[in-house]
Amino acid sequence: MTPSATLLTVLALLGSPAMLAAPDARELPEGPSRPDSDILLSPPSLANISRVPRTVEVKLTAAETKLSILPGKISDVFAYNGKLPGPTLEVREGDRVIVHFTNDLPVETTVHWHGMHLPYESDGSPFHPIPPGGKRVYTFTLRPGSAGTYWYHPHPDHKTGYQIAKGLYGAIIVRAPDDPLPATLTEKLLILSDNRFQPDGALDFPDPHSSEGLTDRENGRECAVILVNGRVMPTIDIRPGEVQRWRVINASAARIFRLAIPGQTFVQVGTDGGLFEKPVEMNEILISNSERVELLVRGSGKPGETTVLQTLPYDRYVPQTRPVDWNKPRDVLKLRYTTQPPAPPVVIPAMLRSIPAIDTTKATVRRNITLSAGLINGKTMDMSRVDVTAKLGATEIWEVENIVGMDHPFHLHGFQFQLLDRNGVPEKDRRWKDSINVPKHETARFVVRFDNHPGLWMLHCHILDHEDHGMMAILEVK
Ligand code: C2O
Ligand code: CU
Ligand code: CU
Repeated sequence: MTPSATLLTVLALLGSPAMLAAPDARELPEGPSRPDSDILLSPPSLANISRVPRTVEVKLTAAETKLSILPGKISDVFAYNGKLPGPTLEVREGDRVIVHFTNDLPVETTVHWHGMHLPYESDGSPFHPIPPGGKRVYTFTLRPGSAGTYWYHPHPDHKTGYQIAKGLYGAIIVRAPDDPLPATLTEKLLILSDNRFQPDGALDFPDPHSSEGLTDRENGRECAVILVNGRVMPTIDIRPGEVQRWRVINASAARIFRLAIPGQTFVQVGTDGGLFEKPVEMNEILISNSERVELLVRGSGKPGETTVLQTLPYDRYVPQTRPVDWNKPRDVLKLRYTTQPPAPPVVIPAMLRSIPAIDTTKATVRRNITLSAGLINGKTMDMSRVDVTAKLGATEIWEVENIVGMDHPFHLHGFQFQLLDRNGVPEKDRRWKDSINVPKHETARFVVRFDNHPGLWMLHCHILDHEDHGMMAILEVK
């Protein structure tokens, strides 16, 4: 393939050519300097302490600390290396990763590497709790083709939602040696979450028996304050005509984001397990709990203008506990156009990579997984029970059916899968996924191959209150 055969300009993908042509690229004066405290900051990257080639060795500590989340207020939080979100684990395909983890929390915890294909002992599932003061070394190797956006978070039995709400979550970025997108694109990481505070800034956890507590139990802990990288309504600066690459993670316990920028489209280039085969133009992006998306966002406004990234109403609820203001759009962040001259056009490849299909004719097992109110296949989680046994090396087709009137985002540990159809309608594009939303009364079918890594793996709803109350099951691969 010659590059010119695979290239497609953003002109076609991203809208009006006139906006991209930079007709009068005369230098414009910069605006007056302004306090940039509201600028969206990316979490720092974990420092690599290894000298060994293709090895990333890092230290991660979870501890209690005090941080300002709301302006002028201090909150008691749990944080990785004192940061909220935790520092980003930045690695490359083929790297061997060694994480020296210390639990300085007063409670037991684990670190789960969400979406990673790794040995069972390093999954950080509830099978391997780390007591207060304890340590654990997590090791895994990033296989070719796994470049993408992932995240890490605690996964102790029954306490995942609480510990993530207290501040324990961070991003993982796996880079490819042959990333097809231009390296010149400005990259932004957006870890979306929400939280609830008392007037003094303390994190608010309602009494589980109060009506707020019972609503949280039903809906999941959806909170009024939306955060991006732990900040309220931060600002991203974008140059007119510039194309930015955004990696977005939904780290919230229960909120499903339906992202849109009024009057403009996104080009989605990737999801959980990395880039798509081809970019797709989208008016809005639905991102359920624990999913990731990679987007190209074009600065289609005029110099000095501002606009917002919003989350649009999305009805995932049962009528009894649907929040009164569910149908109002919410602002997530401010997008501010600089006064620089328009950026020159950017060329985006029409073909990003090829994703080999998992051969469904090799599937030896078809399974039905039923999601209902708090239950998987009619049961709550039992750590001493294996719910599903699969043969090492097997290809299986799973049909996940939601039989109730509330959405449940379904997640499988350890293995990326390919969605085949939803409600019998075939998926148009092949993508690597580890989490999918299964809306009310809908069914999704995927194919998965248990190619290696025997062990015990969790499958669960990623609404954390559902997971913590037992909407989780155990898959044994052997
Ligand atoms: Cu994001 Cu079982 O986890
Ligand atoms: Cu996971
Ligand atoms: Cu659920």
